[in-house]
Amino acid sequence: MIALGCDHGGYSLMQEVIAYLEQQNIAYENFGTYSQESCDYPVFAKKVAHAVAEGKCEKGILICGTGIGISITANKIKGIRAALCGDCFSAKATREHNDANILALGARVTGPGLALEIVKVFLETPFSKEPRHVKRIAQIEQ
Ligand code: RB5
Repeated sequence: MIALGCDHGGYSLMQEVIAYLEQQNIAYENFGTYSQESCDYPVFAKKVAHAVAEGKCEKGILICGTGIGISITANKIKGIRAALCGDCFSAKATREHNDANILALGARVTGPGLALEIVKVFLETPFSKEPRHVKRIAQIEQ
């Protein structure tokens, strides 16, 4: 189950992400926002981060205008490793090296075609489980 959250800046791109997930038969829970009306990204970042941190959802996708505010907020929640990605190399590396559990996207920065490729790579790339990465991830929480 993938937890989804965005603000007004990310709403339009999120509709494209939802269409992609439905086309791929990937289950998701949408924590909002549900319109383009101005809203506060921390509200949705926290909903998604808690759903992932508590194990209700395996991963999350968060979108705001830049991806910055929403990822900063998500990373305040213990156990969350939210990665703001604007390219496929970073999306692959953050899954393999950081076991990132939330992907953040900036809808005003990254075009929809690239953003959907990033989503695909992020969801399909497993954590490497290499001991050096396991050790470093444990150090994040210490
Ligand atoms: C909203 O205008 C904008 O500040 C928000 O989407 C995001 O970019 C914050 O980091």
